[in-house]
Amino acid sequence: MIQYKTKEEIEIMRQSCLMVGKAHKEAVKIMRPGITSMQINNLVEEFILDNGGVPSFKNYHGYPYATCISMNSAVVHGFPTNEIIKEGDIVSLDIGFYKNGFHGDSAYTYAIGEVGEEVKRLLRVTKESLYIGIEKARQGNRIGDIANAIQEYTEKQHGYGVVRELVGHGLGRKMHEDPQVPNYGKRGTGAKLKEGMVLAIEPMINMGVKDVVHLDDGWTILTRDGKYSAHFEHDVCITKGDPDILSSFVEIEAAEKANTNLTWSYS
Ligand code: MF3
Ligand code: CO
Repeated sequence: MIQYKTKEEIEIMRQSCLMVGKAHKEAVKIMRPGITSMQINNLVEEFILDNGGVPSFKNYHGYPYATCISMNSAVVHGFPTNEIIKEGDIVSLDIGFYKNGFHGDSAYTYAIGEVGEEVKRLLRVTKESLYIGIEKARQGNRIGDIANAIQEYTEKQHGYGVVRELVGHGLGRKMHEDPQVPNYGKRGTGAKLKEGMVLAIEPMINMGVKDVVHLDDGWTILTRDGKYSAHFEHDVCITKGDPDILSSFVEIEAAEKANTNLTWSYS
């Protein structure tokens, strides 16, 4: 059942969503070749707790960490580890922040040091596809309009693989609410979008084939061909007018641009 939020609830929720961006910003400040994803996880977890939040992911169906950190061919749900992050790696960081009864959930993929042009293109196109999807997040449209826009841009126009096994979702008092928000599908199909719906829209896009495999840790999803995969996620409220993006990349992007150990992929 879809949970529609009141204007008051949206404002509470916005605080959680914005805190996810601030947690990302803290992580970006320490990102460089030589650190580990566990260091990033621990910093983010501390930031969440210091700000009166609870990490949404920790203990969610037994997930053991505050963040998901999925590198290179890991699509999503990667565990933080003590392995050293190297130049040329891409790091998808997914963070959930729960406070005052509502979740925020947002992911961003970072390029460590110098990465090749084809990797930059994957990150740019995946992020662009998120905004192309968000553009369709309007009252009167349907879920399939968002899904189709993302698929057309990434798969048809750029030849990338759109992961089928994982989808975006409704977001609110629970981290996963109805409806599901796939990154593929037909225009004009699926649930009708209505004021007060909040959707976590999250394209997971592979440089190569769309197929994935499940690692035997029970969580990590990898590309079947071992090629890189990117992931960007925003929380978007449907209104009578323009889509209201509750999460924000503004501070993340400023920190990313300022960090000379990262490649700014989006220009
Ligand atoms: N952003 C992810 C999602 O929407 C976070 C879930 S990770 C989990 O599904 F470990 F908590 F499941
Ligand atoms: Co999500």
